[in-house]
Amino acid sequence: MMQPSKQIIGVFDSGIGGLSVLKHIHARLPNEPLVYLADSAFMPYGCKPPSIIEDRCLHIADFFTKHHCKAIVLACNTATAVSIHHLRKKYSYPIIGMEPAIKPAVIRSQTGVIGVLVTNGTANSEKFNQLKQRFGTHINMIVQPCPGLVESIEAGNTVNNTVVYEMLKGFLQPLLQQGIDTLVLGCTHYPFVIPLIRDIIGEHITIIDSGHAISCELERQLNLHHLRTPSKTIEPIQFWTSGDIQCVGSVISKLWQHPVSLRKMA
Ligand code: DGL
Repeated sequence: MMQPSKQIIGVFDSGIGGLSVLKHIHARLPNEPLVYLADSAFMPYGCKPPSIIEDRCLHIADFFTKHHCKAIVLACNTATAVSIHHLRKKYSYPIIGMEPAIKPAVIRSQTGVIGVLVTNGTANSEKFNQLKQRFGTHINMIVQPCPGLVESIEAGNTVNNTVVYEMLKGFLQPLLQQGIDTLVLGCTHYPFVIPLIRDIIGEHITIIDSGHAISCELERQLNLHHLRTPSKTIEPIQFWTSGDIQCVGSVISKLWQHPVSLRKMA
């Protein structure tokens, strides 16, 4: 068996959304060798049938397995909701997934009214509906699917963009009218438009996303399974995509705030 320090942690999303999670993982675990995959050729997952998402997740997990991974992070709420149980059945290493941070929102909310922004895929999944039932019985939870938002963020429209601003206004105004005091970002793409969201909702509403919590959970799992990398060397992150190298590369470099060299996954 290969030493844990030589094994990678695979992190993936339908596209660039998972970078919002990768940022927390890299900050918390800087010695860990990370490989990020943007499955941009199949983006968005949120409007695809579950069978396609399951196939993609298995294909990507095989790719990471061939690259000697010791853990996988599904930095995507939609992929987690649809297929994490399939991956956990097939692979024995830790597989960490995302879910909308409803529990922390319920604990934090004063008014008892929370909004949750998600993709259609997450909204319609059994896993999300179970989560809602578990925590949502004593709270007024307004679930707002956001069709089209992931595609706009993938196109790099994250700051000062009127189209995205108007789109977000349409999604957020009904939540404001119903008196939310807490807003859960249930898709890893959405943290990239927090400044636009803030402009619309103001400063008094708490925004919660799961990126930090996932990095803590990954650290816990690595410790539990004795998979930590002890060395003090900071490994460069490898970036891969199934999409167009030029287009995806320029958006990743913009959002990662660093030029990245991107490789093509077959
Ligand atoms: N970032 C993915 C998520 O968290 C987006 C899904 C999509 O491609 O629609 O759900």
